[in-house]
Amino acid sequence: MGMKTFLVTGCAGFIGSNFVHYMLDKYPDVRLVNLDKLTYAGNLENLADLEGDARHTFVQGDIGDAALVAELLKTCDPDCVINFAAESHVDRSIKNPELFVQNNVEGTVNLLQRCKDAWYDAGAKTWKTGKKFLQVSTDEVYGALGPEGYFTESTPLCPHSPYSASKASADLFVMAFHDTYGMPVNITRCSNNYGPYQFPEKLIPLLINNAKQHKTLPVYGDGMQVRDWLYVMDHCKAIDMVARAGKVGEVYNIGGHNERPNLFIVKTVIAQLRERLGDEAISEALITHVTDRLGHDRRYGIDPTKIKNDLGWYPETPFEKGIVLTIDWYLGHEDWMAHVTSGDYQKYYEQMYKNR
Ligand code: NAD
Ligand code: DAU
Repeated sequence: MGMKTFLVTGCAGFIGSNFVHYMLDKYPDVRLVNLDKLTYAGNLENLADLEGDARHTFVQGDIGDAALVAELLKTCDPDCVINFAAESHVDRSIKNPELFVQNNVEGTVNLLQRCKDAWYDAGAKTWKTGKKFLQVSTDEVYGALGPEGYFTESTPLCPHSPYSASKASADLFVMAFHDTYGMPVNITRCSNNYGPYQFPEKLIPLLINNAKQHKTLPVYGDGMQVRDWLYVMDHCKAIDMVARAGKVGEVYNIGGHNERPNLFIVKTVIAQLRERLGDEAISEALITHVTDRLGHDRRYGIDPTKIKNDLGWYPETPFEKGIVLTIDWYLGHEDWMAHVTSGDYQKYYEQMYKNR
């Protein structure tokens, strides 16, 4: 019998909402209970097309709320808890690190504790069978690479930003619960995702939104930082595979050997948008180099050998295809972009980019 019931957190955000769509498309009899606090990054519009689908239940709340999490574990009795919920933007973490400790570290520890309460018989030192806790983590916990080499699962943790430090800290707690109590866990560490529903504080949707309006395209420093880009649905597929077949206690890196310097991404978005919209004003003249991000990691690159060999996962979407799917999605969802960039987004943009 495969897993049927999932408590998923943070699934009104970018990757989580894609994961909900992926699971409901793939499994007719799956049940997903989605706990999300609805921060600025959480958006019920990302799930609007699922209204009326009884397989998905949305609950607004905080992963740090002990009573609420305990109640949900009791009432829905999930086979697996998948924790996507987090503050996820590096630039925001540089301005407000405490928020990242609260949500990403304390929130995760609360989820672990409540799962232990629900699943662990301390007297017998046994766990209920068929349960798992999966922590969705990031390649940023490994720190930065030089021009050569890749992150493997045994690369030492060496986070640099408050965001990555909070994710590394959460990972250590997840492993501590495994090592101390025998909790059945997995951790996934993925590279940069792109695709539909990504909030336009992140590079690719920010570029699309600005370029369409002929606004400048801010490139931090020299723009030669390298990220390993993965189409979001390939990440979702990997998470599902790890939940179902990942060996308990193991970490799996997820990435597609698709390393590109930021300037390549910027130029690709410009060229694609100009062609699709037939708008010559969308040009490289919009590129503006701005002050670099503090502590900016130079290069990330994932070695995905373990997940490929152990679980048979590989990235199915080449970047050339994924970026077209992504740009077409944003062009087809102008209302979505208009809604998420109204109000507070304008203030955020001012604070982050004015005089930079
Ligand atoms: P996101 O910012 O788009 O969404 C995060 C979601 O979590 C939002 O819906 C938000 O409301 C919710 N949330 C935040 N704090 C919460 C709390 N305390 N309780 C309940 N809900 C809360 O983030 P994303 O890009 O979708 O990332 C999801 C996860 O994947 C994160 O854990 C992130 O660290 C990880 N990750 C992201 C990437 C990427 O490229 N975006 C890559 C690797 C790993
Ligand atoms: O590697 C996985 C991580 O990828 C995830 O854990 C994070 O949640 C996710 O936000 C992402 O982090 P990055 O910092 O790499 O993503 P971001 O889109 O913010 O930036 C990508 C690169 O582009 C990075 O080198 C910074 C640069 N950048 C970003 C913005 C927003 C710019 O040059 N200009 C910009 O305006």
